[in-house]
Amino acid sequence: MFDWLKKNKSGRPVEKSGADAGASVVVTIDGPSGSGKGTISRRVAEALGFNLLDSGALYRLVALAAEDACLSVRNTEALVELARHLDVRFDSDEGGEEKVWLGEQDVTKSLRSEETGASASIVAQLEPVREALIERQRAFRQPPGLVADGRDMGTRIFPDAALKIYMTASAEERAKRRHKQLKEKGLNVSLAALSRDIEKRDRRDSERTIAPLRPAMDAKLLDTTGQSIEAVTQQVLDWVAEL
Ligand code: DC
Repeated sequence: MFDWLKKNKSGRPVEKSGADAGASVVVTIDGPSGSGKGTISRRVAEALGFNLLDSGALYRLVALAAEDACLSVRNTEALVELARHLDVRFDSDEGGEEKVWLGEQDVTKSLRSEETGASASIVAQLEPVREALIERQRAFRQPPGLVADGRDMGTRIFPDAALKIYMTASAEERAKRRHKQLKEKGLNVSLAALSRDIEKRDRRDSERTIAPLRPAMDAKLLDTTGQSIEAVTQQVLDWVAEL
């Protein structure tokens, strides 16, 4: 394990103070939707006691705020203003389930819908919107470290990350996973429609000119097809241990 981390009483790693503390370590996990990066990022952050950045949630929040304000997803100037001033709060309910607030509004459920994902992917094509979110994302880099989940975490937001992972899975498995996830959240979508939407969104995310979805040159590739959450989490933790 990287030698500037030591365990505190709770067993969680904390950053050493002093000259060798340096910038907090960052692990980036990029990849297409349904690759498992959200679940794995959360598990890895929990295991390490690291902070977690779900960057997709920020793009989703801009899309939701735009919808709330009846703004077109093509109104770049207004979207940039929204992105700059997003009044967002992440917390959890009594059961430990994630809760997300946009101003006074509980957006937990609408945030994760496929419609919001699709609008987020459109908003995310606009470079000024991406730029407006850069500093907000980098501010998540706090001791003892950060696990950052997204599409351009390793390529653009944290190019100096200690460990970069590009997570994939077969298109079929990704659609099935998303389907299960949405069902568990009480959202009803047909698997065939979901597959089509995922394909469309991946194409848009990969083919855009600004910060497209692609592995960083120095990323480790991790195909999660047929692998359990536990096995994938362990693989990432093993890589972290090698740092
Ligand atoms: O990871 P997600 O499904 O919550 O992301 C929603 C959309 O946001 C995704 O289709 C593309 C965009 N996104 C992005 O462009 N860059 C990121 N770092 C994260 C998400």
